[in-house]
Amino acid sequence: MTTAQNNPAQHDVFGPDVEAKAKQLIDRYPQARSALLPMLHLVQSVQGHVSQEGVAFCAEQLDLSEAEVSAVVTFYTMYKRKPCGEHLVSVCTNTLCAALGGDAIYAKLSEHLGAGHEEVAGEAGEPGSIMLEHAECLAACDLAPVLQVNYEYYDNQTPETAVELVDSLRRGERPSPSRGAPLTDFKSVELQLAGFFPEDDEAFRIDVDGPSQAVETLRGAQLAAERAWTAPAMPEDVPLPDLEAK
Ligand code: FES
Repeated sequence: MTTAQNNPAQHDVFGPDVEAKAKQLIDRYPQARSALLPMLHLVQSVQGHVSQEGVAFCAEQLDLSEAEVSAVVTFYTMYKRKPCGEHLVSVCTNTLCAALGGDAIYAKLSEHLGAGHEEVAGEAGEPGSIMLEHAECLAACDLAPVLQVNYEYYDNQTPETAVELVDSLRRGERPSPSRGAPLTDFKSVELQLAGFFPEDDEAFRIDVDGPSQAVETLRGAQLAAERAWTAPAMPEDVPLPDLEAK
């Protein structure tokens, strides 16, 4: 079904340790093919992107064709098809963030870094290198404009604070996100997204010292509690959909 078995380059990149992790992923699902999404994150934790060798590796592990794996890789923007930087900087340019300054932040960072969408400032994968990307709504509109570094949030940004942030990344610093886990790097986060959290490795500590939610996010619920607002009850005569019907 696949030509991956004949590809020695694939086995040079993905050694026994990666194969063992791939087997662990497969064992978590009733059907092997369901492990494809985390396995693509595993591939990115090794290479920083999904190369053709990575596609072949997944195809071989899951008994899929390379075309099937490529179809998934090219559908989701979270899978990068060219080498990423040490860090991935995602600027939300969706409607609310754009109106509140997200477009200006993206334009400033693009000019400052000399990089456009999914382009890398610096040598890809080397310390301090940064891939810049436009992002759709990052689900933090109450804190707009926002950006993420390796999927960690930096809220209420301006072009100036965004430039300070990328400059500190290029100096090798890891500024604390507005909330959530400490900042690591793109490959480390990809291993976490694959579902692996090596407890003995400092880079993978997931202790969350910062706030996990923002005051703005909770404001509506607080107001409702203070004023004893409740949601209207569901009408009892609403028919439930027949999930068996075609
Ligand atoms: S529009 Fe930017 S987080 Fe929703």
